[in-house]
Amino acid sequence: MPLRTRFAAFAFALLAAATSVLAQPSPQVQKRISAAIKTAANATSDIDYTQFVNVFIGTDNDGDVCPGASIPFGMVKITTDLTGYAPAGYIVDNTQMVRGMSPLHDSGTGASSGSYGNFEVMPLLCPGGFDTCTTSLDARQRFRKNNTDNASPGYFSLTLDNDIQMEATSTRRAGLERFTFPKNSKPYFVLDLANDLPGTFAGGTLDIDSHSGRITLGGLWGSSWGPGQFNYQAFACYDLLNGGHQTLDEFGVWTADTNGLDAKGLGVTHLNFTRNLIGGVYQSGALVSFANEPETVTIRVGVSFKSAEQACANAESEIGSASFEDVVASSVAAWNEKLSKIELDLAGTPANVTEMFYSSLYRSFLTPNNATDETQGPFADTTHHYFDSLYCSWDSFRTFYPLMALTSPVEFSQIVDSYIDAWRVHGWMPECRANHLRGWTQGGSSGDVIVGHFAMTYHDQAATLGIDLNDLFSAMLADGENTPANWDIEGREAGVYNKYGYVPASAFETDSVGRQTREGSRTLEYSFEDFAIRNVALLMNKTSEFNTFTDRALNYRNVWDSSVESDGFKGFMQKRFANGTFTFTDPVACSPIDNVSRSCSLQDDNVVGFYESSSWEYSWFVPHDTAHLIELMGGNETFVNRLDHFFEKGYYYAGNEPSFQTPIGYHYAGHPTQSVERVRDVVFSNFDITPAGIPGNDDQGAMATLLSFHLLGLYPVPGSTELLVVSPFTPKYTVHNSFLNVSTTVTTKGFDARSVQQTIPAGAAAYVANVTINGAPLASRCHFDFYDVFKTGGDVVIEVTADKSAVDSCGASLPMSLSTGGFAVAR
Ligand SMILES: *[C@@H]1O[C@H](CO)[C@@H](O)[C@H](O)[C@H]1NC(C)=O
Ligand SMILES: *[C@@H]1O[C@H](CO)[C@@H](O)[C@H](O)[C@H]1NC(C)=O
Ligand SMILES: *[C@@H]1O[C@H](CO)[C@@H](O)[C@H](O)[C@H]1NC(C)=O
Ligand SMILES: *[C@@H]1O[C@H](CO)[C@@H](O)[C@H](O)[C@H]1NC(C)=O
Ligand SMILES: *[C@@H]1O[C@H](CO)[C@@H](O)[C@H](O)[C@H]1NC(C)=O
Ligand SMILES: *[C@@H]1O[C@H](CO)[C@@H](O)[C@H](O)[C@H]1NC(C)=O
Ligand SMILES: *[C@@H]1O[C@H](CO)[C@@H](O)[C@H](O)[C@H]1NC(C)=O
Ligand SMILES: *[C@@H]1O[C@H](CO)[C@@H](O)[C@H](O)[C@H]1NC(C)=O
Ligand SMILES: *[C@@H]1O[C@H](CO)[C@@H](O)[C@H](O)[C@H]1NC(C)=O
Ligand SMILES: *[C@@H]1O[C@H](CO)[C@@H](O)[C@H](O)[C@H]1NC(C)=O
Ligand SMILES: *[C@@H]1O[C@H](CO)[C@@H](O)[C@H](O)[C@H]1NC(C)=O
Repeated sequence: MPLRTRFAAFAFALLAAATSVLAQPSPQVQKRISAAIKTAANATSDIDYTQFVNVFIGTDNDGDVCPGASIPFGMVKITTDLTGYAPAGYIVDNTQMVRGMSPLHDSGTGASSGSYGNFEVMPLLCPGGFDTCTTSLDARQRFRKNNTDNASPGYFSLTLDNDIQMEATSTRRAGLERFTFPKNSKPYFVLDLANDLPGTFAGGTLDIDSHSGRITLGGLWGSSWGPGQFNYQAFACYDLLNGGHQTLDEFGVWTADTNGLDAKGLGVTHLNFTRNLIGGVYQSGALVSFANEPETVTIRVGVSFKSAEQACANAESEIGSASFEDVVASSVAAWNEKLSKIELDLAGTPANVTEMFYSSLYRSFLTPNNATDETQGPFADTTHHYFDSLYCSWDSFRTFYPLMALTSPVEFSQIVDSYIDAWRVHGWMPECRANHLRGWTQGGSSGDVIVGHFAMTYHDQAATLGIDLNDLFSAMLADGENTPANWDIEGREAGVYNKYGYVPASAFETDSVGRQTREGSRTLEYSFEDFAIRNVALLMNKTSEFNTFTDRALNYRNVWDSSVESDGFKGFMQKRFANGTFTFTDPVACSPIDNVSRSCSLQDDNVVGFYESSSWEYSWFVPHDTAHLIELMGGNETFVNRLDHFFEKGYYYAGNEPSFQTPIGYHYAGHPTQSVERVRDVVFSNFDITPAGIPGNDDQGAMATLLSFHLLGLYPVPGSTELLVVSPFTPKYTVHNSFLNVSTTVTTKGFDARSVQQTIPAGAAAYVANVTINGAPLASRCHFDFYDVFKTGGDVVIEVTADKSAVDSCGASLPMSLSTGGFAVAR
């Protein structure tokens, strides 16, 4: 997540089901993708992977995915802004109306009333002339023409019900917008200075230069997921003349409110608003028209987080006089460079799997937003990379960065550089970063696991990749040891956690503040983050830190209350007072089947001790020491029964990150075939190729990368180099790592496409019998190491069988756990 409170989310889903009739996107989108997948089955080279991407997956059902035009990690993502709950601007729900198209968005963000959406442009027909134009937010909003929304990587299009088509394509910091008007109409455009999706305008200016046809604007806005006191600055530069092919007619400004103010200033070229001290929302901007009734109008936009001048320079340098088609073509090429990093066997892979996979891979390169050289505030002078929309580390550490480690160490290192730089600037690494501002802390300092994963997988290349491992380790130690003044926005409640070995409920704090809730889940997350720190200490021969953090990695044990019982299962994670007494929370509380309305997220009255989860769900979260968790839970058989019960009773929540690893839990009890069945079930009951095809907010590609791992038949242990082997949904795939110059081909020997469904039918091979790496059989069929596979390259053969009972064990070794001697060496 972040999600809106669980109960709000449920209420929304019911409402949406009752009122929305899916009439978007255009049915042509799926037809085009299906045809491309079919044709590609026989292609041998020059495959355009962008054709397989459905950018609308996740634009319904609170997926909060932005389907707008973007390049990989683009700072600009151009899409339309819809009324209703649409945090990424766009949603498919055709009962909602369009207020404009804008260049800045985040994708998959979850909570809040939206992120960015600044600098909207709305095309208008004003038959009564300038003074009659519908400029205010409410007056200008329009429905779309049903079944017409269309988009693909690098391209976005939407047609209003008045037949004006809006199209967009983009570069990292700029874009081209093309508007097609009905014949014989005079094009008008509203340009919005003040509005952003969450309505946080705190002052700004706008200037029209009618000779050059350039409008520059910028100002201050507030955070979408953090303290409202923080503001960021943003700027845009609109060029209206399309290299002299278009002529401005009228120009001026407008201002409006929801109580009747509706004024236009023909010929006025300057607006300057200071912060609105009395409250209320400013509505204001520019209004222009074009001469000669052109059928299409092309507008160039540049954005910057530094200055209006830089916004113009970005448009000039990144787009210049390139045509709309040129920009689309460059974007498609940039996407193919990313998407071709993992090549599926297109002939043998079920079409839906191909579409789910490449759509997921697309979203795994869509965020975070690369705002390098666009820094402000305390980062203004940094020479390091800067990424925005780290939204949030608690969501992304589990699968997003481990997937990146397979293919993209260069991109990974740049993001790690940005994390470490935040430690240099603020003293702690970021947990959430939204709109260039520090956001709310969720689990703790999950950035430790992210940079730790990088160190474990690429330490030999770190220097070449521009990462100083000593800085990286210092940043981790700062998170682990130093208590910030306010742990709501960075770091951890480190002092008391390190003193007690858990985050005590109702702690006495003197020099630091933060919301004293989520003690159970924070202890579990801190403890796993300590495991990541411990691994890097091991790598770097830091003996004393290694010992300290090995101990702390076992702190999860301190919140295990063996006396609590639920549904006949004994022992649950619970919150605990400083004096050692546990304080009881019903393990069902805040689970999907909890029927009591209560706060489960960051609210101060979330008293359950867990963040956006139940104790039923969080009690599994010990990925680094599951062997001991099994003992605590009463042994293998009880553990397996408890996992089954967890899924069957409905405590599992596919759209929530703490549930991510649970379907593979069976591996640790020596029953890998049950993980295979569980993952098939989880995928087909929660994911598909429709706009509602992800089970929750994409969360900076968390859902996308979870699904990618499931389809590849792998699951990572973050902060380590271990990968669990499950069962691929495809007969063959090749992972290319162009930095290491290695490729790894994974073949599913005996693959049976019939096994690729929710319930594996009898006789369909899907259970892992054997794994060989470059011809050498592996002693375990449950796990292997990143260094032996993706770091080296070569051929992996995963042989599958239909004979479940013959292969329902891991063979020579279970996946690793600290308490059974695992993770003893750093590769
Ligand atoms: C692909 O090739 C096979 C065998 O040559 C053929 O049967 C099939 O029709 C081809 N499919 C397409 C979509 O061209
Ligand atoms: C779109 O279709 C819905 C019914 O699904 C209808 O109520 C609505 O009026 C249509 N919108 C437009 C703009 O035609
Ligand atoms: C906007 O107005 C404020 C307050 O009057 C003034 O300080 C500032 O310089 C003005 N900015 C511009 C760009 O006109
Ligand atoms: C981010 O942008 C910078 C500056 O253009 C570029 O050097 C870098 O490669 C980009 N990184 C990614 C991951 O897009
Ligand atoms: C840690 O010690 C091992 C064995 O002595 C050595 O090979 C390695 O280079 C050391 N690593 C660092 C980062 O000092
Ligand atoms: C521990 O502290 C809690 C909260 O202050 C209190 O309710 C409980 O009685 C204490 N337990 C013991 C054994 O002192
Ligand atoms: C809430 O759930 C419990 C346990 O499942 C059930 O016994 C109870 O009847 C439910 N209450 C309501 C109001 O639905
Ligand atoms: C659970 O099963 C595994 C694999 O068979 C075995 O190695 C382990 O000792 C068992 N654990 C317990 C607590 O019985
Ligand atoms: C592919 O996905 C669509 C949409 O979820 C579904 O209707 C269809 O049955 C799926 N096809 C297969 C072969 O699974
Ligand atoms: C990978 O290949 C490129 C180009 O051939 C070369 O510049 C680079 O040094 C190689 N990298 C490694 C890690 O071998
Ligand atoms: C596993 O592979 C070995 C050869 O490496 C083979 O002898 C054995 O039969 C295979 N086991 C299964 C269950 O397929």
